[in-house]
Amino acid sequence: MNKHQLEIQKAQQYIEQYAEQVKQSKWYLQYHIAPPAFWMNDPNGLSFFRDEYHVFYQHHPFSPEWGPMYWGHVKSKDLVHWEHLPIALAPESPYDRDGCFSGSAIEKDGKLYVMYTGNRWTGADQDRDLKQVQCLAVSEDGVQFEKAIENPVLSNPPEGNIHPLHFRDPKVWKHGEFYYSIIGSRTMDHRGQALCYQSKDLVRWEFLDVAAKSDGSLGYMWECPNLFHLDGRDVLMFSPQGMNPEGNLNQNDHQSGYVMGNFDYKKGLLDHGNFYLLDYGFDFYAPQVMKTPDGRTVLMAWMAMWESDMPEKEDQWAGAMTIPRELKVKDGKILSSPLAELKQLRHDPVAYQNEWVKGTCTFPGVEGDCLELEILVDVKQARTFDIVFRMGDEEQTVLRFDRRGKVITLDRNRSGKGEGGQRQVPIELNQNRLYLQVLLDKSSVEIFVNGGEQVMTARIYPDESSKGIQFYSDREVELITLKKWALKPSISFEGILRKGGICSRG
Ligand code: FRU
Repeated sequence: MNKHQLEIQKAQQYIEQYAEQVKQSKWYLQYHIAPPAFWMNDPNGLSFFRDEYHVFYQHHPFSPEWGPMYWGHVKSKDLVHWEHLPIALAPESPYDRDGCFSGSAIEKDGKLYVMYTGNRWTGADQDRDLKQVQCLAVSEDGVQFEKAIENPVLSNPPEGNIHPLHFRDPKVWKHGEFYYSIIGSRTMDHRGQALCYQSKDLVRWEFLDVAAKSDGSLGYMWECPNLFHLDGRDVLMFSPQGMNPEGNLNQNDHQSGYVMGNFDYKKGLLDHGNFYLLDYGFDFYAPQVMKTPDGRTVLMAWMAMWESDMPEKEDQWAGAMTIPRELKVKDGKILSSPLAELKQLRHDPVAYQNEWVKGTCTFPGVEGDCLELEILVDVKQARTFDIVFRMGDEEQTVLRFDRRGKVITLDRNRSGKGEGGQRQVPIELNQNRLYLQVLLDKSSVEIFVNGGEQVMTARIYPDESSKGIQFYSDREVELITLKKWALKPSISFEGILRKGGICSRG
């Protein structure tokens, strides 16, 4: 066993001691990817390799706090049922000793390559005392990875108005004969930007240009850039740190969004329009995309936020992924909706049609903590229409449509443990109709408005007994359809625990 494999084994053994206990956490998610124990952040290396989907993630396997980063790993045949696998990367080489930071994956010559950032601290200040380089690792079977002898494959960012230290999160893709990599960066005076490189073999990289940069309004650092083609447009998706709040937008510590335009592959330059957020909730960061074999673009993001409380830490885990979402372009903007395959999880349907609601109303069978709702409502003349989830004696999470303010508000001030607060998204209704898809898991809610025109994602930490769902309207509205399905658990630990099995509590 080499040093890398030994470090992985040590971490794996430590996790195994806690994984059974973690699965019993009342907030442990049933159909979302979450760490088997301890800390998770960004999704990494989303890929399809030998008929299976792979998702890696930033992982600290020794405590529910961020620390030296490893790459955790899950795989799936359908993007719905996930199996935990052994850790893929451990920080132990001179160039990545303090962390295998975020990166991506690509198949080449029948092998799975990952390109990631090797991180080293050179002093106590994590903003100033660091060295970040880009590295490769390769796997024959998609499970065990060997770091490349050529590492690091990029030792320094290029010269120019490019910060020499903050240089991370390579996202690699192939176009024509070449591989390309887009890497997070900032200017010398702290404006976010993304660097574009080209390569023939993934090992030797040539810098093309700064593909796009902040005009001063888009934060001091761009993390986790992705550049991809979607419905005839080129999209640069990234996670800008430090954007200023603007009205009710940009309220999180850091944001994630995109610009769209045309990418010049010869020059490495993106000609683009305005920046839009991808999610208006509390907990969405560092999204990454991949293409499915049938050509769809699928996104997953970290379903958490830097600096947030994460009450699940008391149960020895922290962080999760969003559900996979399919992206499309409509009217110059990205729509994101739950991946069609997730319908497999539905069971025990309950449906109502043409129900009128005024004041407070509940519907028998419409309740729970691990479910999907599909609601088409004609809000008519209502000024306020609310859906209340995870309701108990003292708790509730509220989604409110407000006609006068032309906003939808997600309010988690009474959701249970953890931080409260509200997030809002502007809304224009077409013929008074509001179409909502809501996915609840044990400690999360994801709300897709009008076919994914707006999305709001939040972690919430209610009591186990808070399962009520209630509707409220100040004037009569019509629930044209109200459908509810319970959702099956879909995460297996067999690959890492001897006794393992599908997590099927509750
Ligand atoms: C984004 C990020 C990345 C970095 C990783 C470290 O959340 O800060 O820029 O590679 O997390 O875990």
